[in-house]
Amino acid sequence: MTNSTAPAAIPVILDVDTGVDDALAILFALAHPGINVLGISCVAGNASLERVVENTLRILDVADAPTIPVAAGARRPLLEPARSAAHVHGEGGLGTLQLPPTNRQAEPISSIELMHRLIRASPHPVTLVGLAPQTNLALLLRQYPDVVENIERIVFMGGSTTVGNATAVAEFNVWHDPEAAAIVLDSGVPTFMYGLDVFNQVAIPELAANALVASTTNLAHVVGRLLSNRIALGPGRDAEYTGLIGDAGALCALVDPDGLTTSMLPLRVQLSGYGRGQTLVDKRIHPGEDTVHGLSGDWEAAEVALDVDVDRYVHLFLDTLGLSSALPQTA
Ligand code: BDR
Ligand code: CA
Repeated sequence: MTNSTAPAAIPVILDVDTGVDDALAILFALAHPGINVLGISCVAGNASLERVVENTLRILDVADAPTIPVAAGARRPLLEPARSAAHVHGEGGLGTLQLPPTNRQAEPISSIELMHRLIRASPHPVTLVGLAPQTNLALLLRQYPDVVENIERIVFMGGSTTVGNATAVAEFNVWHDPEAAAIVLDSGVPTFMYGLDVFNQVAIPELAANALVASTTNLAHVVGRLLSNRIALGPGRDAEYTGLIGDAGALCALVDPDGLTTSMLPLRVQLSGYGRGQTLVDKRIHPGEDTVHGLSGDWEAAEVALDVDVDRYVHLFLDTLGLSSALPQTA
């Protein structure tokens, strides 16, 4: 039986593929008083499952976090082999950053089991925050359909209403496991899509990242190093500074929804052809010929983030981590 009074902090389970920006998201979530991280579920994505688990445990040390259960889930997508994003996140998953080994250990159960237990035990409905390919979330919903009764909603970083990054049209998390994303969208749980439309906007100025890197405080230095992870642009070209907070933006969305422009829109995942992994989002105002002639097929409704107040989220991110002094002072 869940408690109907609102909790002081939103109970969340993070599903991650740590990952440079997953690391930023974990640090933000742990620092924000409005978020209560019940547990962290790991999945193969940006790096192998083993690396993702190890990176996640080490990041908890950086945050000086209390004991938080971390567990390993799927080591590959439902249908296809795992394909890492080492060209973005480095072989180890945290760019050039090497964190010291940790004494923390992963739980001796799968992350599917961990999520099930945490959701069943929570006195308040839990928000699942998916920052990775959605394999674990799909397995959870398939194996334990009863969990939907105590899930508030699923907030996921993934998809795009315009261009992709893994392919010209598909975003990495959805592209890596399109069937899993389709299962999640079809689960009946309210979903919120924080896609590339907003993900690609929220960036910390390079001067601020440089100031953080130079800091003698470990948290500040690590955040600076993660923000300074450069994206390869190809042979003969310098890697690019982006400063994106990336997945951490989905947590900003959780605690500060007013920083976004959103809309409830029909959404579905393309499962075949070159467009495999693309999120199709119907932004039309008027019904088209497909609707008129009964050719639309199945769509789900999701709340989709379309635009973001970048300055607001930059400040929210740095303020929460106590790092806003790194921002260049304006006169
Ligand atoms: C997503 O894929 C990964 O590279 C990031 O961690 C983020 O979750 C962006 O497409
Ligand atoms: Ca991620």
